[in-house]
Amino acid sequence: MTGRKFTLNVPTNLGFTTKDIAKAVQRGDVIIVIDVLRCSSTIVTALANAADAVIPTKTVKEARILHKKHPEFILAGERRGIKPKGFDLGNSPLEFSPQKVKGRHIILTTTSGTKAIILSKNAKYVFTGAFLNAEATAKAALNLAQQEKIGISLISAGTNGRFSLEDFICVGAIVESFPADNLEHSDAILAALLAFQQTRKSLDRVIQSGHHARYLISQGFEEDVKFCSQLNIFKIVPFLKGEIIVPLNGSLLFY
Ligand code: MLT
Repeated sequence: MTGRKFTLNVPTNLGFTTKDIAKAVQRGDVIIVIDVLRCSSTIVTALANAADAVIPTKTVKEARILHKKHPEFILAGERRGIKPKGFDLGNSPLEFSPQKVKGRHIILTTTSGTKAIILSKNAKYVFTGAFLNAEATAKAALNLAQQEKIGISLISAGTNGRFSLEDFICVGAIVESFPADNLEHSDAILAALLAFQQTRKSLDRVIQSGHHARYLISQGFEEDVKFCSQLNIFKIVPFLKGEIIVPLNGSLLFY
């Protein structure tokens, strides 16, 4: 055994819908919640544009109650893709400009994405991943997994409990960016990786062909779909700290 460096393999798993979150929490994995269209992309964009924090809430009612207590917070979200009555912002990442969100807390409620994040909250490390921040998310998650000797679960939030094409391909984009070769991928992860490698040159077109993208386009959100299909334009990694999502910084390593 002399002179041989031993490194533990990091197991990676894929959750196809929010139903798989409980198992990932039980395993003690680092969890990456992915809802490309559009919740993850909106959270990443808001924090990249200097919002202080995003507070995920399950229902529109809860969001409204929290906003009553904190009228200084921005109230944002969607149901069926559309901004609920009286909300300041919808769930279009393009709305979350620096002018609107810099230095602000945002209460966010979405159909699937914020629920998936809340369902993950008993895990020690919960990140929000999208195409927009795929590489940064991969690096942060692997760093922690290696440090803590735990696995990584990539959870596709899906749409209303259904499998979602763009989230699956995004899993592949994140996995391809893991800067290590001591990973023990499940077959589902390998399939996502292959899907990304086959589609990377036509991401826009492939994502637009998915069920939820077609719905969003029919509601006039074509620009959102295009925006969310961009790879690695942000380095921010949203991290769930207690009940709120903040940008990850170096201090997490001593969390
Ligand atoms: C969700 O959380 O279900 C989505 O972000 C819905 C949407 O596209 O607004």
